[in-house]
Amino acid sequence: MTLKISVIGTGYLGATHAAAMAELGYSVVGVEVDAGRLASLQRGKLPFYEPGLEEVMVSNIEAGRLRFTNDAAQAAAWADVQFLCVGTPQQKGLQSADLSFAFAAIDALAAHIKPGALVVGKSTVPVGTTRVLEQRFLAAQPHRTDVKFAWNPEFLREGFALEDTLHPDRVVIGINDAESEALLRSVYAPMITEGIPFIVTDIATAELVKVAANSFLATKISFINAMAEVCEAAGGDVTTLAEALGHDVRIGNKFLHAGVGFGGGCLPKDIRAFAARAEEIGAGKAVAFLGEVDQINLRRRDRILALARVLLNDDDLTGRRITVLGASFKPDSDDIRDSPSLAVAVLAHEAGAIVTVHDPKAILNAQRVHPELGYEHSLEDAVRGAEILLHLTEWREYRSADPADLFNLVALPNIIDGRNVLDHGQWSQAGWDMLAPGRTLPLRVPVG
Ligand SMILES: NC(=O)c1ccc[n+]([C@@H]2O[C@H](COP(=O)([O-])OP(=O)(O)OC[C@H]3O[C@@H](n4cnc5c(N)ncnc54)[C@H](O)[C@@H]3O)[C@@H](O)[C@H]2O)c1
Repeated sequence: MTLKISVIGTGYLGATHAAAMAELGYSVVGVEVDAGRLASLQRGKLPFYEPGLEEVMVSNIEAGRLRFTNDAAQAAAWADVQFLCVGTPQQKGLQSADLSFAFAAIDALAAHIKPGALVVGKSTVPVGTTRVLEQRFLAAQPHRTDVKFAWNPEFLREGFALEDTLHPDRVVIGINDAESEALLRSVYAPMITEGIPFIVTDIATAELVKVAANSFLATKISFINAMAEVCEAAGGDVTTLAEALGHDVRIGNKFLHAGVGFGGGCLPKDIRAFAARAEEIGAGKAVAFLGEVDQINLRRRDRILALARVLLNDDDLTGRRITVLGASFKPDSDDIRDSPSLAVAVLAHEAGAIVTVHDPKAILNAQRVHPELGYEHSLEDAVRGAEILLHLTEWREYRSADPADLFNLVALPNIIDGRNVLDHGQWSQAGWDMLAPGRTLPLRVPVG
């Protein structure tokens, strides 16, 4: 009999997971509380940009394997496996994770859940959350010990979400009992057959794997950005330094790109929540370095403006026309959560500059949150009359733009390559003055 799966919370993680589970042949219902998102999903329209996902979602809706609802009770009573994919954002004014969405999801399931169902958390949570959720469930339904809990962290990358979900580097499951393991082995049977490592562990370890992975990635990025600061002070070139480091197979070259730093809905809030949770359980010192990782990352944003001031030869940005290339936190996504590019755009606006933002996909999202900034949908219109371009999200469109064409549109040919990916030789040949974080500077710029 076809396995019935519910996916509670259908944002970037849940919509992808729901479509992927349906693609594997299961019968899937996605549960969503946001009326706008739900209506869009029910019409077969993805409410966010993720390459290739909408097609797979639509084909599974048409095949009758995938549907979306706001009826959590009905989904709870129907599904054998209930995947929890709700958001776990940073709590307002605090470093820790806001678990209220997970609590609400459990409360909505509790009274209706199918006998013997398995609740599988996929959201990124502080260690100990599964136990808290299970206790909350049992407090509401004291006799429902037939319902089991497991944790199955998700490692997908936006921009590659479907591919990462269907063919992940590894599947990690944290379980308390053999029955739950057997059920999850059957859910992930296609991945196991493909030879993808399937790691079975206790629940605390499963919860920790995700935050540990994100902490490692954040640390690697901040490490090279710290080296960028040193290079700037010493007159070195961080891109050559990174290349030389990356050839060491123990280090590797991935996530070793100095620039404006990391952002998004995961890394920043995950390292903060991890540090906060570690503090609560008496292990705060072990991850105190994450505070420094965060600070290095946030300093990068000011640094971009410091470089802009050097290039404009003006400490005062009032009235200067600045064009920010990119609003999303990474290319191939419209996700603007904690986007370094937008943060720099806002800093420039606050410093009095006239800011225009361009992005191939994220303008509507950015406009909703920052209506005070100017926006242009075409690259040409965005750069026309600019005194400096800040290249902050490495969309292919910017890398493939012809510097000679753009030269003819701007008021001054200044550009900061905040991602260190543009061909500096090509841009200078076309007449541009370019600076980039961590590269040898024509002038000493105070770090900070
Ligand atoms: N986005 C990623 O790349 C990614 C990758 C791995 C893990 N994660 C983790 O996955 C979780 C979700 O992230 P996201 O990016 O998908 O967030 P998101 O905000 O895009 O999606 C969460 C969705 O859950 C819905 N929701 C909230 N409460 C609900 C409820 N009670 N019932 C039904 N729906 C509810 C929201 O309306 C929203 O659509 C987070 O913990 C995140 O850290 C995200």
